[in-house]
Amino acid sequence: MQYRRDLASPLSEFMGVLVLCGILFFGGQLILEGNAGGLTDKGFIMYIGIFTQIISPAKALSTSFYNMQKGTAAITRIEQVLRAPVVVEEAINAKAIIGFDNAIEFKNVSFSYEDTVILKNINLTIQKGKTIALVGSSGAGKSTLADLIPRFHDVSSGELLIDGVNIKDYNLMQLRHLMGIVTQEPILFNDTIANNIKLGIDNGTEQAVMNAAKIANAHNFISQKEEGYDTNIGDRGGKLSGGERQRLTIARAVLKNPPILILDEATSSLDTESERLVQDAINNLMANRTSIVIAHRLSTIRHADEIIVLQKGEIVERGTHDSLLIQNGFYKKLVTMQEVK
Ligand SMILES: Nc1ncnc2c1ncn2[C@@H]1O[C@H](COP(=O)(O)OP(=O)(O)OP(=O)(O)O)[C@@H](O)[C@H]1O
Ligand SMILES: [Mg+2]
Repeated sequence: MQYRRDLASPLSEFMGVLVLCGILFFGGQLILEGNAGGLTDKGFIMYIGIFTQIISPAKALSTSFYNMQKGTAAITRIEQVLRAPVVVEEAINAKAIIGFDNAIEFKNVSFSYEDTVILKNINLTIQKGKTIALVGSSGAGKSTLADLIPRFHDVSSGELLIDGVNIKDYNLMQLRHLMGIVTQEPILFNDTIANNIKLGIDNGTEQAVMNAAKIANAHNFISQKEEGYDTNIGDRGGKLSGGERQRLTIARAVLKNPPILILDEATSSLDTESERLVQDAINNLMANRTSIVIAHRLSTIRHADEIIVLQKGEIVERGTHDSLLIQNGFYKKLVTMQEVK
């Protein structure tokens, strides 16, 4: 469209000038030869003057068609977004859920994206206050498993229960309010640092935001920015480094102070020193909370109450760090490989 529009302008001017030249040449000849009928020289000049006035409205007409086309293209895209089907629907008489008291249970849960099966027969109970770690190779389904708990997807078969009630029966907003999630891909918006940390919280004071940032080891880099907490971070936080983005999302989880924490590779983009500092903060945060932690670096999860090893969507091993080492299976292999590094 841009190409055509840019083409329209030189083309219409060229044709306008061409037609004008033609009229000037032909009319001029008629008048000079004296056989123009009733047309006088003054009349002819006036005619040319009026004719040139028509060119610009005619051009405006072509531009308006272009604008209409542009609008149509935009509205199609907007409608596509607005009419995207809602895949996760709230139950009609949704139950309120204010707190988390007992356990999260996966009962024979399977999940597939269209035809591809991603998770198969997962049985897992996460008691309140415990830390569960998910490990396994890339693409094993760890993030997918974690995404089921806040209902980013619904299970394809089986049941996912919180305190004995299927999560499909809960009020969706309240359910998600119970969880603080640090996603593998930091979710940040084109806004200030403070607003990104406060996301989803109604009454985050400046002091509270700063405390959360300190815990997440983000305060130092934020205060080095010219505008501090009011710095705009660009689309998806593009003006920050990967580790800085990660620390902002950790600060967000700290500020929210939820009973359930989901950490998906929360410290993967940090250097060893920052990782240690942030890990300390995360360990403090996890105390007295229920946490689901996904990590490739196994040193960060060795103290988890239960370690679940996923392979191609299935649980192949489970237990504590020590018991898994004794089992001498896939987990032991992973640990040995990382020690060699
Ligand atoms: N939206 C999607 N549509 C179709 N397939 C998907 C989608 N998202 C993920 N998958 C597939 O699901 C599988 C599991 O993905 P998942 O993100 O859970 O892996 P993961 O264990 O978290 O891996 P990693 O350690 O690399 O983060 C992968 O094979 C992936 O290709
Ligand atoms: Mg993942």
